[in-house]
Amino acid sequence: MTDAPPITVIADETAYAEAVQLALDASAAYYADGTSALDDDAYDRLVRGIEAYERDHADQVLSQSPTGKVAGGAVVGDVPHLVPMLSLDNVFGADQLLDWAASLERRLGRPVTAWTVEPKLDGLAISARYRRGRLVQLVTRGDGVSGEDVSHAIGTVLGLPDRLADLVTIELRGEVMMTTAQFEAACAKRQAHDGTTFANPRSAAAGSLRTRERPYVCEQTFFGYGALPYPDDDSELAAGLRAWPHSEVMAWVAAQGVRTTADTPVAGRVVTTVAEAQTRVEEIAAARPGLEFGIDGIVIKCDQAADQVDAGFSSRAPRWAVAYKLPATEKITKLVSVEWNTGRTGVIAPRAVLEPVELDGSIVTYATLHNVADIGRRGLMLGDSVTVYKAGDVIPRVEAPVVHLRTGDERPIPIPQVCPSCGDAIDTSQERWRCVRGRGCRAIASISYAAGRDQLDIEGLAENRIKQMLDTGLITDFADLFYVTRAQLLGLERMGETSTDNLLAALDRAKTQPLNRVFCALGVRGTGRSMSRRIARHFGSMAAIRAADAAAMQEVDGIGPEKAPIVVAELAELAGLIDKLVAASVTMTEPGIPEAGLASLAATSSASAASGEGLPLTGMSVVVTGAMSGPLEALSRNEVNALIERAGGRASSSVSTKTSLLVAGEKAGSKRSKAESLGIHIVTPEEFATQVSAFL
Ligand code: IVH
Repeated sequence: MTDAPPITVIADETAYAEAVQLALDASAAYYADGTSALDDDAYDRLVRGIEAYERDHADQVLSQSPTGKVAGGAVVGDVPHLVPMLSLDNVFGADQLLDWAASLERRLGRPVTAWTVEPKLDGLAISARYRRGRLVQLVTRGDGVSGEDVSHAIGTVLGLPDRLADLVTIELRGEVMMTTAQFEAACAKRQAHDGTTFANPRSAAAGSLRTRERPYVCEQTFFGYGALPYPDDDSELAAGLRAWPHSEVMAWVAAQGVRTTADTPVAGRVVTTVAEAQTRVEEIAAARPGLEFGIDGIVIKCDQAADQVDAGFSSRAPRWAVAYKLPATEKITKLVSVEWNTGRTGVIAPRAVLEPVELDGSIVTYATLHNVADIGRRGLMLGDSVTVYKAGDVIPRVEAPVVHLRTGDERPIPIPQVCPSCGDAIDTSQERWRCVRGRGCRAIASISYAAGRDQLDIEGLAENRIKQMLDTGLITDFADLFYVTRAQLLGLERMGETSTDNLLAALDRAKTQPLNRVFCALGVRGTGRSMSRRIARHFGSMAAIRAADAAAMQEVDGIGPEKAPIVVAELAELAGLIDKLVAASVTMTEPGIPEAGLASLAATSSASAASGEGLPLTGMSVVVTGAMSGPLEALSRNEVNALIERAGGRASSSVSTKTSLLVAGEKAGSKRSKAESLGIHIVTPEEFATQVSAFL
């Protein structure tokens, strides 16, 4: 499924020496703080080029060459490992996996009948030493022979308990990484502290693990992938760990209270043939976008201890395991230009236009650039080579310029002097620049959004009519619509009696829309239709929503530490508009939900019906795709989503391992195949309608 990347061709001895130096610098930076001038693919190509050159020029091989060395020979720590921490050899694609397995079986002189297939976790390798059940030392991989003592991080790493269930003396191996939520929290903390964010979860984890003194602590997670007895340990447990299959060792590790991937959708699994291993590889690859942590491949290991012992090790890697590489999530490409757009809320945001690059299975052309200050901090120039990161459903982001690839032709990024939408001045007092007109800048867009079918559903309010009312000063925002009189409307050009009465009737109906639609109409940044429904159900009334601080806002499913303060601040900014809506008697409550919201009921058992317990879709994440038919035929996608939520479920737009059910109509495409590969239950629109008929 993945092609081997082509190799870098090295022409002569000088080019060889330069290539060795470049590889050493790149791996030093990668292991120091997760940044590197080369992306993973480019590094692989370079090392393979060096290997090829060395095969033909054995007399020229430099002692510092990265080939055959763990971590490219980059890092040396001062704590010797009890057993070396090695690398893994790579395969790219199904054919290479078959070849690798066949050559291993030839070496063993027998077939391998049990393989473990597990994710290759994209974090930092850690050795965790326990003595009599207590965590005593944490050491990084370093150069594989010795690593750095990072015991100061004990207590900040979830999944790595201070005490094991048994009083055992043992070394655990695994990866320390940040989950998506931990990464978001870490970025929010750093943003608040010095205005910067981390480039990606891996470098955030590397930085947080190795930095001793930081005024804020970032939580991380450990996932174990192995356990070793100390070399001199001749206890019964040590003998057991040396003799048990890998899968049983991992079950024992989990039983000690250590986090493993066992409770994730990509849990390690034992299979008996290489063909089955390939199938599991594909399942894990398909599950990758929905995972809450990064993986950069799949590790296939001999499960039986005897196979591992007989296969042994090369100088760099075990012969009983191999890493099946997945497409990169970070690559280097060119920054072609920067576009500036004013959003509905008046925020002026830059967007990077890139030379198209394939990342994590999709072609990326645009990427987030945050704001002007961020561009300055990163020192980005037009024409720069930049590292770009995208994993799963994450929006692609530009990380940093690769300064040493500059040619001298790079130019400063033009920064707008006036609002790109209306030409008025820019308020630069905050990092996030805004048009001085705020929401008023794109008033037509925000009012027509509020009037849209999924929000207040005000029929007959076309954009030209909104413009006319804005130009004549009848309204400045959508709340003003509810104060416009019949006489004022009749005074507008091209506005007859019938249209006027229809519009007034539509406005009256709009006042009765439930809170979730009224909230959605506000256009608060980061809250679309589903999120607005969740907020409305959680709080029950506009008053409760407005009373929430960032901590209370975070209790809403899907609102993390980055989004919560934004929602709170936006609501404060919208206070005048909301007050006008309240005074116009627009509905400020959610039908069927108590005014203090479901949040207030969480602790009381009598609230089971209201809190969604016992509803047909309680706890389920449902995705809808393809054309609806039968009783659902007339419903818009948003209406089907609302139906899912009435029936207790959560509507989601993308299939992931968290999806519980896919409703697939005619012409369902990639979502259906993805759901099939993940083994997700699939129903037709008709079957689904029966399941939720009480809520239709
Ligand atoms: S087993 C003797 N299993 O990948 C080495 N390693 O590129 C056996 N890694 O140093 C390692 N996930 O830090 C193993 N499920 C997994 C892994 C894994 C990530 C890391 C590990 C290793 C590196 C090699």
